[in-house]
Amino acid sequence: MANIIIVGMQWGDEGKGKIVDYLTDFFDVIARYQGGHNAGHTVNIGEKKFILHLIPSGILHPGKACIIGNGVVIDPEALLDEIKVLRQAGVKVEGNLFISSRCHLIFPHYRQLEKGSEESRGEHKIGTTCRGIGPSYQTKMARSGIRLIDMENPSLFREKLFRNISEANSLLESLYHLDPIDAEEICQKYLSLYPLIKGFVIDTSLFINNAMAQGKSVLFEGAQGTNLDIDHGTYPYVTSSNAVAGGACTGVGVGPTRIDGVIGVSKCYTTRVGRGPFPTELVNKEGKLLQERGCEYGSTTGRPRRCGWFDALVARYSIRVNNLDSIALTKLDVLDTLEEIKVCTAYRYKGGIIKEFPSEEWVLEEVTPQCRTLKGWQRSTLGITDYDDLPQLAKDYLKFISDLLEKEVSIISTGAEREETILVDTPFINKWFKDKRGISRQGRET
Ligand code: IMP
Ligand code: MG
Repeated sequence: MANIIIVGMQWGDEGKGKIVDYLTDFFDVIARYQGGHNAGHTVNIGEKKFILHLIPSGILHPGKACIIGNGVVIDPEALLDEIKVLRQAGVKVEGNLFISSRCHLIFPHYRQLEKGSEESRGEHKIGTTCRGIGPSYQTKMARSGIRLIDMENPSLFREKLFRNISEANSLLESLYHLDPIDAEEICQKYLSLYPLIKGFVIDTSLFINNAMAQGKSVLFEGAQGTNLDIDHGTYPYVTSSNAVAGGACTGVGVGPTRIDGVIGVSKCYTTRVGRGPFPTELVNKEGKLLQERGCEYGSTTGRPRRCGWFDALVARYSIRVNNLDSIALTKLDVLDTLEEIKVCTAYRYKGGIIKEFPSEEWVLEEVTPQCRTLKGWQRSTLGITDYDDLPQLAKDYLKFISDLLEKEVSIISTGAEREETILVDTPFINKWFKDKRGISRQGRET
């Protein structure tokens, strides 16, 4: 079997969690490679609804090894909360969850630093999830970060933490006018939490490379999305890690030639949480309708998501920077009631036409989307599992997108439940997922 990366094509919340969950049966190992508990995905299985932030959703499938790679930043309290919820729901975490010893930690004072930084930006604030993610990656790059494994050596951990907090306190007090942090308190707390986490901590790169050498297959699960990537996203309105497919190698510790393919996940429309340019945003009743029908409220922060039409420039950009093999389109059913559906095919800017997603934030802020209007099917597609059962106009819509992007659409999501999914016979699916029985079996079991 293959080693496949799943990546978000937009600004996160594309429904990657559901697609990962749907495909998990084909893989032995599921690995997260970046981000932290800023991510959030909801997985519905039967009556049960799980919101996972840090732990790969593969954990809901018994016997799958779930990896949190070195590229992920860890807040021990958030991690333990998530483990607790899973245990209470009867999910076996021990023996299935493995966390990289190289993961960088998030501390409570990182949230304070983030608060100070966001407030000092005034109207240019990023609109982060305020989980301390940015400061954790910042200190990692500044080489003053503290890793999970450091807690194994309490005196070294203490020394590093005190240095780290002393720097933080000077920023907090003099720049942000916030209260300083008590280093001793945090030190004691983290050292008391470590024994609860220690059992999950391993060299995950070694684990994955050994698994691959034995012929096991790995599903790499990206968090956020291409346009939130620190290098390729709509900087500075991005997260602090490499959400693109390339991040999978650095974030887990595998070589690029191990990867067999990349699947991009996109909604049939677009959403964005937090600030920053969003060319196809609809600040009108159509946007409201997408928001309501799509239940577009952040699963981490509860913030309403901004909504807009599908943007082919965003999609093509994502196809390029991730070299996508295939696309999963989610939330088709959200469009069911619309009389007309628009798809942005180009931007207009100062009298000219832009066809490639631009890097200048001031251009993105000013462009006008040029849209093609397609006829809505105005019939329910909710829960359809067979492509042939889709209304002809829905098929036309899907074909239009696939032709426009010159890329196969291999998975279509028609509802929040695991089984509300269509798997299309495409070259990529037929190459790597030949035994599709795994998927239908999964559907029936739930
Ligand atoms: P941070 O990741 O908390 O630093 O937030 C930076 C930006 O990324 C903000 O616009 C957040 O709303 C956005 N963001 C972070 N994680 C997610 C996610 O999982 N889904 C959608 N947006 C996210
Ligand atoms: Mg999410």
